[in-house]
Amino acid sequence: MKSYVFFFVIFSYAIINSQASSLRLFRERRADDPNETQKEFWKRGILMDIYPRSFYDSDGDGIGDIKGITEKSDYFVDLGVEMIWLNPVLKSPMKDFGYDISDFRAIDPIFGTMEDYENMLKEMHSKNIKVIFDFVPNHTSDQHEWFIKSVQNDPKYKDYYVWKDPKGYNSTGAPIPPNNWVSIFRFSAWEWSEERKQFYLHKFLIEQPDLNYRNPEVVKEMNDVIRFWLDKGVDGFRVDAIQNLVEDVSFADEPAAANSGITDPTLEGYYNHIYTLNQPETIVVVRGWHEILESYKDRFMTLEIYDEDVKVIMKFYGNETNPVSDFPFNFFFINKLSGRSDVTGTRLKSIVDLWLDNMPKGKWPNWVLGNHDRNRVSSRFGTDLIDALNMLVLLLPGTGVSYYGEEIGMVDAVISFEDTQDPAGINLGPDHYTETSRDPERTPMQWDDTENAGFSTASKTWIPVNENYRTLNVKAQNEASQSHIKVYKDLAKLRLKKTFQFGTIEFAVATDEVLAFVRSYEGSPTYLVVINTSAEDTTVDVQNGDVKLPDSATVVIRSSTGYQRGN
Ligand code: GLC
Ligand code: MG
Repeated sequence: MKSYVFFFVIFSYAIINSQASSLRLFRERRADDPNETQKEFWKRGILMDIYPRSFYDSDGDGIGDIKGITEKSDYFVDLGVEMIWLNPVLKSPMKDFGYDISDFRAIDPIFGTMEDYENMLKEMHSKNIKVIFDFVPNHTSDQHEWFIKSVQNDPKYKDYYVWKDPKGYNSTGAPIPPNNWVSIFRFSAWEWSEERKQFYLHKFLIEQPDLNYRNPEVVKEMNDVIRFWLDKGVDGFRVDAIQNLVEDVSFADEPAAANSGITDPTLEGYYNHIYTLNQPETIVVVRGWHEILESYKDRFMTLEIYDEDVKVIMKFYGNETNPVSDFPFNFFFINKLSGRSDVTGTRLKSIVDLWLDNMPKGKWPNWVLGNHDRNRVSSRFGTDLIDALNMLVLLLPGTGVSYYGEEIGMVDAVISFEDTQDPAGINLGPDHYTETSRDPERTPMQWDDTENAGFSTASKTWIPVNENYRTLNVKAQNEASQSHIKVYKDLAKLRLKKTFQFGTIEFAVATDEVLAFVRSYEGSPTYLVVINTSAEDTTVDVQNGDVKLPDSATVVIRSSTGYQRGN
């Protein structure tokens, strides 16, 4: 195996009094209590996305479950992860693996029972781990009682979904969809109901009909779902697919996007989604949810939202008097870096600036590297960059968000079309499935080098375990003198220091090869973070930048190869 000479280091040194006016403060006044950390838990901790099917299988059926997550609670304590977000575990026909919900108040038997869920909450809370619930408001399963009754034109439910008459009928008598809107999973977003003689909208699978948020009854129903889970004791919500919540009333055709490079009009990327994405009415609904949260103590809400325009995303923060969410996820490290060659010091800096320069006053940033919908960080950017990128998202001012397995640098698995489970891949067919299938990043957690990576005792797991588990696993990395997981744990501890919780950020150097930034907080040690984004050994003069730095400092954390700690 080729080994890169690669490093990143974090130096600490005594306070230098830096007075630059461009300094961004992440707290209005100094924290006088030396033990004080952020008041809100979601500012303090790391948020980890846990894919329940693949975390730990407690009953040997080859699929991860809630009890499995409970059994691994000490793992989070050991890692220093204080918040876990579980992808949906509610009752579902599993067409989109739980994102097609048929009952918002019941746990799917694949994952366990309501009692298992309550025990999990209790166990996590006893260990100071917060549990964030995946709230999927845009659509239900076509097996949900509401939809079944809506199809039947039941007076209470008939407007629960987005129904439309056909535009007309073609020469063979087949109904023509109301407009050209397409599903994110490809092809028309309209499906004909022979029973109701109308089309219904589905921005995702045919089996995921979109709810109609212009109907106040739907808003009320979903508010009740939120209250149900808050009363259960969940600490907050990750709200799914918020950009798709409401559609424009004109139901007009969407124009083709300029310069998309996509020529196939059955694909989502072909269009400019001016009538279906991030409509102003969406904000009103989301604000309503946050208002409910405000009537409970210590709860949190983040949004899954995509838009190319940072200004649109920022609206979903709201403002100090009318918060819309605690933060919309910041996906720019995902969207603006398409591969290894994009990862340069200058690019990373510009992405950090993009968020910080546009964020409304008094709001809190967040940094996301990956999730259950994206290829593994190591596969996107290179296995040698994983420590550096974990360092970046965990030490920038704000909440760091990780996807399970990134702490050991898991990589995508190669999964054949025959083994493909994800409908997003299956819909594209054997020639194109790898472009969108999310299976490669959803493989079972690699705990150790025993059968199925210690994930399950089943003879077959729901999706194959990545073959590299014999060497790449939690146990091996915990036993090694240096490893990704050890770096991750050190970072988790370091980010609790006041400098990282409250301190300012200044960039010392940003070049093609290097990003160096300084975190400081009066009365606390100052830290210099240096990231080499190239695959080569690099020499950089960090004193040559805008920030005044001392002549020497001590290495406190380093990547799993390179500099020695304490040097
Ligand atoms: C979100 C989820 C994704 C799911 C989709 C439809 O984007 O993250 O996994 O397929 O919504 O619910
Ligand atoms: Mg199981």
